[in-house]
Amino acid sequence: MTVAKKPISGGVKALPHTPIYRMHRYFARRPHNVINTLIEHYSRPGDVVLDPFCGGGTTVVESLRLRRKVVGVDLNTIATFITRCEVMDLDPRDVETTLEWILEITKEEINTLYQTPCPQCEAEAMANWTKWSVVYICPHCNHPTVAAEAEKLGPGKYVCTHCGQGFHVTNLPRKADKMLEQHVSCPTCEFEGMKQVTAEDIQRCADLERQFDSISDREGLWYPQQVMPFDYELRKPNNLICERFSDFFSRRNLLALARLLRRINGIEDQKRRYFLQHVFTSVVGWTNRMVTDERHGWALHAYWLPDIYCENNVWNMLKRRSNWAVRGKRYSQGEIGDYYVEAHSAPDILWGNATCWLLTQSSTNLPLPDKSVDAVITDPPYGGNVQYSELSNFWAIWLPETLGVENLIYSPEEAVLKRYKEGEAERFEQLLGQVFSECCRVLKDDGWLVITFNNRDTRVWFSMLRAARQAGFHLTRDGMTYQAPVADYARTLHQLKDGAIKGDFILSFRKVLQDRSGAGQVSWLRHENVETFVVERVTEVLGKGPATFSQIYQEVIPALVANNTLDREVEGLDLEKVLFDNFALEEMPVEVETDWPLKKTTIRKWVLPEIQDQEEMA
Ligand SMILES: C[S@@+](CC[C@H](N)C(=O)[O-])C[C@H]1O[C@@H](n2cnc3c(N)ncnc32)[C@H](O)[C@@H]1O
Ligand SMILES: [Zn+2]
Ligand SMILES: [Zn+2]
Repeated sequence: MTVAKKPISGGVKALPHTPIYRMHRYFARRPHNVINTLIEHYSRPGDVVLDPFCGGGTTVVESLRLRRKVVGVDLNTIATFITRCEVMDLDPRDVETTLEWILEITKEEINTLYQTPCPQCEAEAMANWTKWSVVYICPHCNHPTVAAEAEKLGPGKYVCTHCGQGFHVTNLPRKADKMLEQHVSCPTCEFEGMKQVTAEDIQRCADLERQFDSISDREGLWYPQQVMPFDYELRKPNNLICERFSDFFSRRNLLALARLLRRINGIEDQKRRYFLQHVFTSVVGWTNRMVTDERHGWALHAYWLPDIYCENNVWNMLKRRSNWAVRGKRYSQGEIGDYYVEAHSAPDILWGNATCWLLTQSSTNLPLPDKSVDAVITDPPYGGNVQYSELSNFWAIWLPETLGVENLIYSPEEAVLKRYKEGEAERFEQLLGQVFSECCRVLKDDGWLVITFNNRDTRVWFSMLRAARQAGFHLTRDGMTYQAPVADYARTLHQLKDGAIKGDFILSFRKVLQDRSGAGQVSWLRHENVETFVVERVTEVLGKGPATFSQIYQEVIPALVANNTLDREVEGLDLEKVLFDNFALEEMPVEVETDWPLKKTTIRKWVLPEIQDQEEMA
């Protein structure tokens, strides 16, 4: 086998996550089979693969599975934490027994918090989950309106159940949330099902709420107290009522989590403790007020508080997450096992017997010698699509010592666009450029830089492409291919939103070498004709039938990339405006495969404008 001479061609269809990636969520994880195919195409067994933006570890895991050595770098400590837990050589039976033991010793101390009289035998049963609704004070009549009982006029808009007038919820005062229903299990009579809320249930929760501080003081419990910064991109009117990250939890769940964490932090074996701390943070994602039902954890790239939320029992969730952790570690052992040997220095990975080096630092400066890496396969931040550090802090604050996070994860070198700041586009391009320069330096001359990318804003595209070119890379001929999204993910609400971009592009770059003159393409597209060019491409696409923004985008972006040196001439191109000016939008119904959160919806597709030449036909 020789190193690939040609870029990969033809799309790769994404497959759903394997169990190793289901142990813990990370944001915008790339499909494992796509990354796996790229590693196989661009490197050989024993080669060193680098991912300077390793995130949730897809490149690291797949490289090890394919018996490559791998260097994964991310400045977000949560990213390397999750990645290390995926690949570390830990016997799944050890994981299982440790988790069983933790479940055993916490069963009583956590479940007492969720006790409720059994609706059948009246013995003490346990709430598996409890649904709650926010209660707003109507601005017109000052009476409380329970969101779950009110007619909904639109996002954040309800009809008052007292005076009948409509109101918007932003900045409205509230009353205590109302308990709606609970799902209970009774160990005495084995009843399992829904229980109607009683006055006693409400009283018990209110008591717990009141005693929260005294319980937590008495037991010497610790939980994170950090205030959520107001300059966060993700600070929105919807979440302002939460001053601290801990306000995203019910007091009851906060107590349960604090009790659980104390037990996990007490595990003596360092490796097992580390891994269980990662199971803990995955539980955090399922037991907060952003969870809408018991089957879905925190999944948005936002701090979004739904008006009706599901308070999951922490012990139950630990049990469920434990099953996933064991499954993930079984998969990990079967696929990687003791091939994983952690490196602590460049010589370890380059010339020693180590196979994996995970670095928590910015990739703007890599501790690797020149021309030491065989391939760079990575997935850089897609502009400002995901605020990695802002989101990661929801987990990181729970493990300050393990993760070395003093207050909050923050780095001025995070290559993520923040919309609210001036000069952001330049900063993004510059940081990306620095990382690509480092990639160019450490990459062998015949190696490839392969990235997956997408963004609906053409300016972000050009920032990225310019950064790569200035760092010394050129996009190879046919070096751009489209990768379709995972079928079942493509139909989530997020993806169905009008104009959402689906799938990714794969771009294959090589180093510009001295002797390879004329590597860059010749630009013929100028500002004046770029719009005409786009209109022609779109007309071709729509000639075959209606298309979504995403489908049009899939055609237009590669055409632009192939025909332009990506200088600032096309910078001003606003694809959506071009579409609005030249084509028409039609509302079309679509089927949704998942039953959550929407069953039926419509999607808007672009069509050719009404044709004037009907006269000709007549
Ligand atoms: C798109 S994510 C990678 C996703 C990953 N490929 C996966 O499958 O989960 C991009 C990552 O880049 C990281 N990042 C941003 N700026 C960085 C920098 N200067 N150095 C290293 N990592 C950086 C972010 O923390 C984030 O985890
Ligand atoms: Zn009212
Ligand atoms: Zn019972």
